[in-house]
Amino acid sequence: MQSLSQFLASDVSSASLQEVLLVTTQTCIEISSALKKGSLAGILGMAGNENVQGEEQKKLDVISNNMLKGALLASPAIRAIASEEEDDIVPANTDGEYLIAFDPLDGSSNIDINSMVGTIFSIYRQVGSEPATEADFLQPGKNQVAAGYVLYGPSTMLVFTTGHGVNMFTLDVEQGEFILTRENVKVDPETQEFAINMSNQRFWSDAMQNYVNDLVAGKDGSRGKNFNMRWVAAMVGDVHRILCRGGIFIYPWDKKDPNKPGKLRLMYEANPMGMLLEQAGGKAFTHTERILDIQPEGIHQRVAVVLGAANEVDKCLSY
Ligand code: AHG
Ligand code: MN
Ligand code: MN
Repeated sequence: MQSLSQFLASDVSSASLQEVLLVTTQTCIEISSALKKGSLAGILGMAGNENVQGEEQKKLDVISNNMLKGALLASPAIRAIASEEEDDIVPANTDGEYLIAFDPLDGSSNIDINSMVGTIFSIYRQVGSEPATEADFLQPGKNQVAAGYVLYGPSTMLVFTTGHGVNMFTLDVEQGEFILTRENVKVDPETQEFAINMSNQRFWSDAMQNYVNDLVAGKDGSRGKNFNMRWVAAMVGDVHRILCRGGIFIYPWDKKDPNKPGKLRLMYEANPMGMLLEQAGGKAFTHTERILDIQPEGIHQRVAVVLGAANEVDKCLSY
């Protein structure tokens, strides 16, 4: 049974990248304990403010953001952080080699129903003598040196890649450390399971409506096979299911707000999950392009997301 630190010592050559991954995941263990206390700790409900994207923050969005921010800014390996819950990037040490972008709590609407949530992170390498700026973060996702998430479910799991495949770890709560439990995860190119918020159907493009209609038509339609549907309402949970048993996850563009290209955030959600899916042999696209090729224009940029089983992503985009 390999612990996370043993795994990092053999998988990651840079000591400072090992340090970034350890600090991040150690803080996620603390977030996991806070979540387990739930109502008893008085940490559920709304914080009473909005983030820069106009979304209401829950107390746990703020608490987990502050925990990660505090721990990462104290690490000499960190050059700067960017968070879904911070208006601007926060520069740390000019000697630090790594930039980290994170969604401290993904799926936070699930908190109140005691359902799955997670933390998603994306790491870039950037050096220089000047304090980091937002421009340093605006690198395409293919430049990520590591990406992953911690899923707070019935067990707490860490899933990440440093560019050599995807590995899964399970938190041993007694020892307080992650143990490698699944190596080199691969996503089957074919699937019969999809995840999309169907309540937005009438707002999608015609092509997306046609594609999903054909999935729902099952054996009686052009696809000639039945599909199952699942929706965790936390991307981290839906992506975890896809890494475990396959499928396709879609958060498409919709015309509710035609100026928004999508709901999910490029830097905190689409890029890290895109890297994981590609490392597992799957694909991650917007309606038109590979997510990891997108040149970001701002840290809070949103994109449409189609990711999962390679052949099914191709099929979806062919509409
Ligand atoms: P966050 O909690 O970080 O704002 O992200 C929520 C996102 C994503 O995790 C999930 O897939 C999606 O919102 C759920 O959207 P619906 O409200 O349409 O179900
Ligand atoms: Mn999120
Ligand atoms: Mn979030």
